[in-house]
Amino acid sequence: MKGIVFSEFLELVDEEFSMETCEQVLEMSDLPSGGAYTAIGTYDPQEMRTLLGNLHEVTGVPVPDLLQTFGRYLFRFFVTSFPMFFEGVSSTFEFLPRVHEYVHVEVRKLYPDASLPTFACEGPVDGVMTMSYRSQSDLPDLAEGLIQGCIEHYDEPLQSTMERVGGDPPETIFTIGPK
Ligand code: HEM
Repeated sequence: MKGIVFSEFLELVDEEFSMETCEQVLEMSDLPSGGAYTAIGTYDPQEMRTLLGNLHEVTGVPVPDLLQTFGRYLFRFFVTSFPMFFEGVSSTFEFLPRVHEYVHVEVRKLYPDASLPTFACEGPVDGVMTMSYRSQSDLPDLAEGLIQGCIEHYDEPLQSTMERVGGDPPETIFTIGPK
C-alpha cells in the first residue's frame, strides 16, 4: 500500500480525533516502518490493518465506519491534490466509470507498484448505476466511503448501498441511485 494512503490516514486521525489519539495509536502499533511514511514508498498493507484495529481499540468506533470515514476524507484529498482527474467531469455517474478506465490507469503510471482494485460500472439505467468491486486488498468499506465522497463532491441527491457477492477475491456490488 502506498505511503500517500498512510499519510492521509494519519492526517484524518489527527483531524477527526486528536493528535494525542494519533500518537497513542502509533505507539500501540509498533510498526515495521516506525510510522514514518513517504508518499512514494510502499508499505505492508498489514500496517493499515494494525492501525485501524488500534484506532478502533482507542475510539470504540467500528473498523468499517473508520474505513468509510477515511474513504470520504481521501476523496476530498484526491480532489485537491489531483485536480486534473476532475476537469470537465460534472457528475457522479460521469466520474465513477472513469476511476477504472482512466484515474487508476494514470495512478499505475505514477506508482507502478500500486495495488489497485478492479471496477466494472453498468448504467445508469433509470437513474441507477451499479459498480462491481474486486481487489486483493478487499476493502469494500473504503470503496464505499470513496463513492460517498464522490457523491458529496458533486452534491447530488444520490446514495449508495453495498452487497457482498463472494468469490475469490470477493466481489462487492455497489448500487448508486436516488435517495
Ligand atoms: C470514487 C472514486 C474511487 C474509488 C471508489 C477508488 C477506490 C480505491 C480503493 C478501494 C483503493 C484501495 C486499494 C484496493 O482496494 O485494491 C484505491 C487505491 C488507490 N486509489 Fe482509488 N478510488 C477512487 C478514486 C481515486 C482517485 C480520484 C484517485 C486519484 C489519484 C485514486 C488514487 C488511488 C491511489 C493512489 C490508491 C493507492 C494504491 C496503493 O496503495 O497501492 N483513486 N482506490
